[in-house]
Amino acid sequence: MTRAFERRPKSVKDLLDVAALSRAEIEALLTLASLLKAKQQGGTSHRLLQGKTLGLLFQKPSTRTRVSFEAGMNQLGGHALVLPMADIQLSRGESVADTARVLSRYLDGIVIRTYDHATVEEWAREATMPVINGLTDLSHPCQALSDLLTIKEKKGTLKGIKIAYVGDGNNVANSLIEATAKMGMTIALGCPSGYQPDQHVVDVARVEAVKTGATIDVGQDPYVAVKEADVVYADVWISMGREREQARRLKVLSPYQVNSRLVAKAKPDAIVMHCLPAHRGEEITAEVLDGPQSVIIDQAENRLHMQKAILTKLLGKRRSGER
Ligand code: CP
Ligand code: NVA
Repeated sequence: MTRAFERRPKSVKDLLDVAALSRAEIEALLTLASLLKAKQQGGTSHRLLQGKTLGLLFQKPSTRTRVSFEAGMNQLGGHALVLPMADIQLSRGESVADTARVLSRYLDGIVIRTYDHATVEEWAREATMPVINGLTDLSHPCQALSDLLTIKEKKGTLKGIKIAYVGDGNNVANSLIEATAKMGMTIALGCPSGYQPDQHVVDVARVEAVKTGATIDVGQDPYVAVKEADVVYADVWISMGREREQARRLKVLSPYQVNSRLVAKAKPDAIVMHCLPAHRGEEITAEVLDGPQSVIIDQAENRLHMQKAILTKLLGKRRSGER
């Protein structure tokens, strides 16, 4: 017999990309995240995932994603289990398929941070539990969804908001493009040639933008990107796994630094965002990152609240032990 969850589309079982969510699903996540944030801040118990266990498998370093998922799971009354790569048989060549199918018998969900996006797709295919993308070379959906919460809090709305993304058109940029397209916002990217966002992501987002009224502008001039922007967004120039390209990236991306001269060209009340970790003096100056327009710590906090909403939606609907 086909089990109920197997009949559901993958986008419902897993969270691999923002593009797989509907606008209504994103709105529901934003509402739930705000509710859970209020409960957490008001000291109201919200043990919605009692008895559930979340696995955390990280093949790249992480501070925010790992700790916020682990703390979030604890706050929801569940348990999080870090699976150090070196300690599990995957590191000795056991297949993703066998690992995913076996771990699905023990866990209620898993967060995976890895290099190749195809790896999280394989996990999602093989696992019967929900698989959450905790960052791949292609995308970082939990970051972009959390950032929508921060923008909504700071600006009061997402409607009519323009994000300027300046620098390397990386995983974070790709997920912000997907989120913007879904929510009918505007994003303008100022990224040098050779460091533009993923073309497939942009093409799919532009199709979505026709339906939602979003605008996706991909350009090379940071000053054009920040014009009339409500949000100026920076990320590192050297993402995890790109360390060997350091010298070239520092050279090509240096005109793309988010500094006070650039931020002054955005709207006067523009907020400055950065997913962190940051390299002061490279992609952003200390003056801007630690300045009055920066919302980076609130932005990092919202990872916790949005991810608790994601966990509640994905793990909450499954009965423990359901396969
Ligand atoms: N922004 C973010 O994902 O941070 P970590 O790499 O610390 O998880
Ligand atoms: N683009 C960065 C994001 C870190 C959270 C990286 O992939 O390293």
